[in-house]
Amino acid sequence: MSNSLLDSKRIVLGVSGSIACYKSADLASKLTQAGALVDVILTEAAQQFVTPLTFQAVTGRTVYSDLWNRDGHVQHVKLGESADLLLVSPATAHTLAKLAQGFADNFLTVTALAARCPVVVAPAMDGGMFAHPAVQENVALLRARGVVVIEPKEGRMASGLVGKGRLPETAEMIGHIRRVLGRNGVLAGKHVLISAGPTQEPIDPVRFISNHSSGKQGVALAQAAVDMGAEVTLITGRIHEPIPFGVNHVQIQTAVELHDAVMAVIQEQDILIMAAAVGDFRPKNPATQKIKKEMDGVPTIELTRNPDITVAVRAWKAVNHAELFMVGFAAETQNWLENGQSKLARKGLDLIAVNDVGGTQTGFRSATNAITLLGKDDLMIEIPLQSKEAVAEAIMKQVAKMLTV
Ligand code: CTP
Repeated sequence: MSNSLLDSKRIVLGVSGSIACYKSADLASKLTQAGALVDVILTEAAQQFVTPLTFQAVTGRTVYSDLWNRDGHVQHVKLGESADLLLVSPATAHTLAKLAQGFADNFLTVTALAARCPVVVAPAMDGGMFAHPAVQENVALLRARGVVVIEPKEGRMASGLVGKGRLPETAEMIGHIRRVLGRNGVLAGKHVLISAGPTQEPIDPVRFISNHSSGKQGVALAQAAVDMGAEVTLITGRIHEPIPFGVNHVQIQTAVELHDAVMAVIQEQDILIMAAAVGDFRPKNPATQKIKKEMDGVPTIELTRNPDITVAVRAWKAVNHAELFMVGFAAETQNWLENGQSKLARKGLDLIAVNDVGGTQTGFRSATNAITLLGKDDLMIEIPLQSKEAVAEAIMKQVAKMLTV
């Protein structure tokens, strides 16, 4: 799962002594798999829970501890200055206090003082410790200094107590890391609105008309936009994909709800990407009670047209003289080029991603996709078959390029 934001990034992962240390081994492993170069520093207390060998095995790199070696006096400067990100996870109450006060009594704290990169801390501790005013004041001090604090989660802790102090799971941690690494990206300061997934049009309270869209491509676009520094709003139908960390998520069911959700926030946006597979029709008069086969027989369902959201946005744009970059998708099973070109013009789009949804490796539900991007002045770019994440990155790069020229 290599990822271009994390690829070759130098991440210093400081691990202090909490039972949550074991989660950092998984984090180090996942970051390494994504292409990052992870240098781990273990405090002495951390080594009571995990060994350097654990981290060396998952990162394939030297693990640093408080055992000063021959070049110990310069190692921390080298590590701190060359890092793209310093993450302290888990950060115990003790280590937070040291970081807040500028202590320099172990390899982790001296490296933190030498670091010139963004610093992220993930506090993890038991019982009511996190709520203690001393800890809260240290956290506030670190925040005021620009340190990003990943709030611990509520839940059951090692002591059996329930409270706020759990280290978030790896996927969420990586979400935070991506947001910090991407924050000065090419789309920093831009607002991006993305729609994804299917709509569901009720027939009665238990049945609906829908389509096979999984929302995967739209969700991947949202993550790619976050990675490039954008403020992302993601409107989805009912999907099973995890929502990327740091996006503002709005859930809808029907095309009319999607229309209303898009129009409610459109004036704040710089970019609109309509990746949702919007139902073109809906039952005209959905039954208020479940249709019963014995009583009602075989129903005839009369359909009516749904609003075309992209066309509505185009009209809004014209009336308001808005500068909105519009990207659409064309879900096609045949004549994709002609259909894509006519949709580009009909919907007033700047770019359209033509998607063959008839194949097994492309389109709905598949993990991979291949896209042809069409734009004005005969622009045509082929994005070959690859993961939907890689396709999303390629699309967002093209959008950013067209926006900045
Ligand atoms: N779209 C929309 N509102 C609709 C239908 C589609 O905004 N009611 C958007 C989609 O999100 C997509 C683009 O328009 O970005 C093209 O969608 P697609 O389903 O391929 O085309 P349709 O316009 O619905 O035309 P057809 O189904 O006849 O191919």
